[in-house]
Amino acid sequence: MKYLDLFDGEKMPSIGLGTWKSDPEVLKKATQLAINTGYKHFDCAAIYQNEPAIGDALNHALTTHKVSRDQLWVTSKLWNSYHRPEDVLSACKATLKALRLDYLDLYLMHWPVAFAPHVGLALADPDTADDFLSLDQAPISDTWQAMEQLVSSGLVRYIGVSNFSQTKLKKLLPQTIIHPAVNQIESHPFLAQSDLVDYCTQNKILVTAYSPLGSGDRPAAHKGQDEPSLLSNKTVLSIANAHSRTAAQVLLAWQIQRGIAVIPKSTNEARMAENLAALEVQLSASEMAQISKLDKNYRYINGTFWEGKGSPYTAVNIFD
Ligand code: A2P
Repeated sequence: MKYLDLFDGEKMPSIGLGTWKSDPEVLKKATQLAINTGYKHFDCAAIYQNEPAIGDALNHALTTHKVSRDQLWVTSKLWNSYHRPEDVLSACKATLKALRLDYLDLYLMHWPVAFAPHVGLALADPDTADDFLSLDQAPISDTWQAMEQLVSSGLVRYIGVSNFSQTKLKKLLPQTIIHPAVNQIESHPFLAQSDLVDYCTQNKILVTAYSPLGSGDRPAAHKGQDEPSLLSNKTVLSIANAHSRTAAQVLLAWQIQRGIAVIPKSTNEARMAENLAALEVQLSASEMAQISKLDKNYRYINGTFWEGKGSPYTAVNIFD
């Protein structure tokens, strides 16, 4: 395993298993297989509705001494419905219970978007204006302060954010006592996010790339028409052929060589192993540059799903 440095010198495994969209029926077995294959890092979230399956697999691995807790890195995320400070502790405790853990390595604010608490985990896409809270009603800094308490009480080792723009980080940073360890963002060669990555690096915030393979298994309702394919991109494929590797491995190696962690999702044993083996791929400077040229600021997860219906959120103000 290769590790990346957090702001305090602690290490985070550079590849983790993504679990968004993983069917809970197959995820327990997949998580066990992942641990056997050498995965140490698991990327979870309450809204994925599958944390109990991961918890069962982690608990089995820990109680049978396949792995020790300090060798694992487990991330989870605070859902939008629990941004009010009084809801943060119980949301974190529910995730810990589902994952059957005493502490999380990292807890992220999933989106800079707040829903009313009645929405809970039932609706990923709220229906009416009453389902949303504006950032004036639920300020990010208040949520952050409540997340800081989780660190103080030992439930969480590090806290961070997800889907945060530079604008939002610039506003948040002066209001923090505990530094955000990670910003988890969509990133791949069509969305390199170089400026945001540079800003995060300068401010000692590690970046994790989600949807590093383009998230082809997203629900149809969230897909655009004629989405470009990363896995069948000619440049990526020709570099993959030159290394006798796969397109997925090249996409992952490109991020790791940029100092970015990746969380490819798979529940398939062969593809999980293939993705972990991206650590063995060494791209040349010229190959890195060719891939970087593919950037076209293309988001698969574009935020438009929370527009309309009286929502205060737009794709533009989320990714401002
Ligand atoms: P599966 O779970 O059947 O392996 P992302 O990580 O960007 O969200 O992408 C996840 C999608 O990519 C899933 O459909 C997953 O399918 C697929 N996938 C994961 N690993 C690979 C791989 N090595 N090659 C091709 N497709 C992959």
